[in-house]
Amino acid sequence: MQNIKIFAHRGSKGTHPENTMAAFQKAAEIGAEGIEFDVHLSADGELVIIHDETLDRTTSLTGYVKDHSAQQLKTGDAGVKFSREFLGERIPFLGEVFEWAKDNRLWMNVEIKTDKLAYEGIEQKIIDAIRHHEMEHRVILSSFNHQSIEKVKLLAPDLERALLFEGLPENLEQILRDKQESGFHPDKDSLTESVNELAKTLGYKIRPWVANDEADIIKLAEMGVDVIMTDFPEKALKALKAWQSNG
Ligand code: G3P
Ligand code: CA
Repeated sequence: MQNIKIFAHRGSKGTHPENTMAAFQKAAEIGAEGIEFDVHLSADGELVIIHDETLDRTTSLTGYVKDHSAQQLKTGDAGVKFSREFLGERIPFLGEVFEWAKDNRLWMNVEIKTDKLAYEGIEQKIIDAIRHHEMEHRVILSSFNHQSIEKVKLLAPDLERALLFEGLPENLEQILRDKQESGFHPDKDSLTESVNELAKTLGYKIRPWVANDEADIIKLAEMGVDVIMTDFPEKALKALKAWQSNG
C-alpha cells in the first residue's frame, strides 16, 4: 500500500498557535511525517516564520514583519492570541527550526512567502540556511510565486521544489510540462481525479492543502496523493490508519 504522509499545516495549526515551536513540537510528538511553515524577511534580513506579511493577526506586535528587526520580533508573543495557555510563545526564526529539527526526522515544507512582497534575496538566504544546517534531504521549497521556485532551481538545483496553486490555471498542463518541478501543491478543492492523474503521469509528487475533514482525507488517500497537509495531524493520522486497516 502507498505510504501517504501527513504534514502538519503551519505546524498543528488546529490545536496550537500557527507557525510556532509549540505547533511544530506537537506535530513531532504525534508522529506526523512533516510540517509546513511560511517564511518572510525581517528589516535586517533574518528569516522569520510567520504566515501573514503583518504581525497583527497572530502576534502581540503590529505592522509589517519587514519593518521590524529580528530583535524587535523576538519581543513579540505568537501564542497568546490563540490561547492564554500559549502565552510567551515566540515568533520562530528559520535557523532555530532547523536546529530543533536535528532531534527528529520530520520533513519540512518551507513556503517562501513572496506572493505579496518581493523580499529581495530571500531564496538565497533560505538556501544558505538549509546548507548550513545540512537539511538538504528533508526540505521541500514551495511558493505561489513560481519565479521564486525558478530562482531556487538556478541557485540550488539539487533542492526539492514544488509549485503552489490556489485554484488552477487553464494552462496547467503546459505549466507542469514546462516547469518540470517535482512537487505539485494544489488547494484540495482543485484536485480533481483528472488533475491528479495528469500530475501523476507527469511525474509530480502531489501534496494538496488543507484537508481537515475525515471525508476529505479519505478521498485524497483514495486518489493516491503523496502527502496530505492538515491543521489536525493527529486526527488525520487516525483517519488514515483506520482507512488503511479497512483496505
Ligand atoms: O503550502 C500550503 C498552504 O500553506 C498554502 O496556503 O495560506 O496556508 O500559506 P497558506
Ligand atoms: Ca503556507
